[in-house]
Amino acid sequence: MLNVVIFGPPGSGKGTQSENLIKEFNLTHISTGDLLRKEITGNTELGFLAKKYIDKGALVPDDIIIGMIDNYLEKIGNVPGVIFDGFPRTVEQAKSLKEMLATYKTDVSIMVNLEVPKEELVQRLLKRGETSGRSDDNLETIEKRISVYEEQTAPVKDFYAKEGKLASIKGVGTINGIFAEISKAITAVK
Ligand code: AP5
Ligand code: MG
Repeated sequence: MLNVVIFGPPGSGKGTQSENLIKEFNLTHISTGDLLRKEITGNTELGFLAKKYIDKGALVPDDIIIGMIDNYLEKIGNVPGVIFDGFPRTVEQAKSLKEMLATYKTDVSIMVNLEVPKEELVQRLLKRGETSGRSDDNLETIEKRISVYEEQTAPVKDFYAKEGKLASIKGVGTINGIFAEISKAITAVK
C-alpha cells in the first residue's frame, strides 16, 4: 500500500492538494476534519461532542479520533493506498496509526509537510471564511488553531523525521506547482 500523510498548519493546502493526489496516485482520502463535520451535520452524538472542540479551535481528544480512524480503515477494506489529511495531529495519534497499519501489514510511506508562513495562512482562511460556512474560519479561532498546531501538532514532524519519512515542501505558489513537487516526492517512495 501507498500511505501518504499530508501535513501542515490550518490553511496550508492539505485538502486542496489531496483532491488532486487521490486521482494521480489512486488513493482513498481520509480527512478527519471532513469526517467530524459530517458527524456534526448528521447530528450524531460524536458530532455533538466534536463541535465543542472544533468551535474553540482545540483538538478533539485522541481516543475519539483514533477510534474513528480505526472504524474507517476497517470500512474501506482493501485499497491500493490512503492519504491521511489532518491526521495524525499528535505524537500519540502517530503511534496509534503505526499500530493500526501494522495490523494490515503496512505503514506510512511518506509524510508530506507543507510549509506556509503564518500571515499567508490567516489570509487564506479569512478569505475562505467568507463562503465556507465553517464555524472555525473566523480570526479568533484561526489564531487559536495555528497556535494549537505549533504547540501540539508540529512535534509529529519529528516522529516521521526519525523514521526517515519526512518530505518538507514549500506550500506557497500555484496549486499546480506545489502539486508537481509533492508528486515528485511521492513517486520517489512508491
Ligand atoms: P481540519 O478540517 O483538518 O482543518 P485544518 O487543519 O485547520 O485545516 P484546513 O482544512 O482549514 O486547511 P487545509 O490545510 O486543508 O487547507 P485547504 O486546502 O482547505 O480540522 C478542523 C478541526 O477538526 C480541528 O481544529 C480539530 O478541532 C478537529 N480535528 C480534525 N482532525 C483532528 C485530529 N486528527 N485530532 C484532533 N482534532 C482534529 O486550503 C485553505 C484555503 O487556501 C482554501 O480556500 C484554498 O482554496 C486556499 N489555497 C490552497 N492552496 C493555495 C495556494 N497554493 N495558494 C493560495 N491559496 C491556496
Ligand atoms: Mg482541510
